Amino acid sequence: MTVEFNIHSVPENYHISKRLLNRRVNWLLKKLNVSDHGLSILLTSDEEMSWFNSHYRHKAGPTNVLSFPFSEGNEQNLSTISLRELGDIIISVDTATREAIEYNQTIHERLTKLIIHGLLHLLGYDHEQSPKEAKRMLKVEKKLFACLKQNRSNSMTQLAINVDHIATIRQARGINEPDPVAGAAICELAGAAGIVVHLREDRRHIQDRDVLLLRQTVKTKLNLEMGANKDIIDIALDLKPDMVTLVPEKRQELTTEGGLNVSGQKKKLGKTIERMNKANIPVSIFIDPDKKQIKSSLEIGATFVEIHTGRYCDALTEKVRDKEFNHISRAAEEAFQTGLRVNAGHGLDYSTTARVAALDTIEELSIGHAIITRAVFTGLDQAVKEMREIIRTANLID
Ligand code: PXP
Repeated sequence: MTVEFNIHSVPENYHISKRLLNRRVNWLLKKLNVSDHGLSILLTSDEEMSWFNSHYRHKAGPTNVLSFPFSEGNEQNLSTISLRELGDIIISVDTATREAIEYNQTIHERLTKLIIHGLLHLLGYDHEQSPKEAKRMLKVEKKLFACLKQNRSNSMTQLAINVDHIATIRQARGINEPDPVAGAAICELAGAAGIVVHLREDRRHIQDRDVLLLRQTVKTKLNLEMGANKDIIDIALDLKPDMVTLVPEKRQELTTEGGLNVSGQKKKLGKTIERMNKANIPVSIFIDPDKKQIKSSLEIGATFVEIHTGRYCDALTEKVRDKEFNHISRAAEEAFQTGLRVNAGHGLDYSTTARVAALDTIEELSIGHAIITRAVFTGLDQAVKEMREIIRTANLID
């Protein structure tokens, strides 16, 4: 299968991610059982679209999407078509952008919907045939879009494990067991893609000794969570973790309570990011799923944002959980669209992780408490493997 993606006459400030769209198209082709077929997609301007519309359909002005089937097939006889080309889809990004604003969608959501629409036309669906056919096509479109938002077709979501709570148990006794450094090694052997520790100002769990040893022993990726405080910044610059995640830190809190208010402290955080970046340390910012915080994170030079999943995990009813999940899904899409890389975490457990892991805009999940507490009963190796399996399954295309 070859999916040819061309972007023509579309200003750069649209920030269209070919990578995300390509991944989605590949998923759609698989889902529609035509993954062995080729397809060409052109994203263009209203001006060019008007030309196509007038030339091929004798209609004035632009439209959102046009499909040109390579052969006259329908979904029933596709398997018998010998030419393995579906045809061309042309989309006006100008029109898609206006529609995205009108329907309160991100540009990638809108483009995805238009691609689905165009693709179904190539497969023989035609809403102009009759109201019944229009209804049928719309139903399939809606179903595909809902499924797709919950699926990914590229590499697996990564699991980074926060080992703070191993240190919490150690500190409760004030001795040297259990050792988070040994725990980190077990997590890596069981398939973790990264280790996360939060070196707090009050050193309530992770100690300076832990981060020094982890820097030497972690083979995957060491992510240092930290408040943007002078002493900790100096430690991070010396330590050179693979990345840092800036989090808010209050002495009285039991755990990180909310995302950072980036918009309210852009100058201070921007300076911290600048220093980290000079030392080649990429910075992630832990934020609530909020548009304003995403924009500010981008403006001050963050490489990643980590979207706070706490409210979704803590929801007491399914209705609230769905609402919070939609905030996460939308924020991840918006952040991804700006070019930020997207992680997520906080409060995720064995029942809440799958849904978040299935979002194709999220690269990595940071999970601690649920895995360490399960490890008390099952062993750490088993607890990590069970979480990995949940993520793996959530990433599968059904
Ligand atoms: N991400 C961030 C930024 C955190 O502060 C924490 C908690 O330390 C986590 C993820 C992991 O949360 P949990 O321990 O609830 O899985």
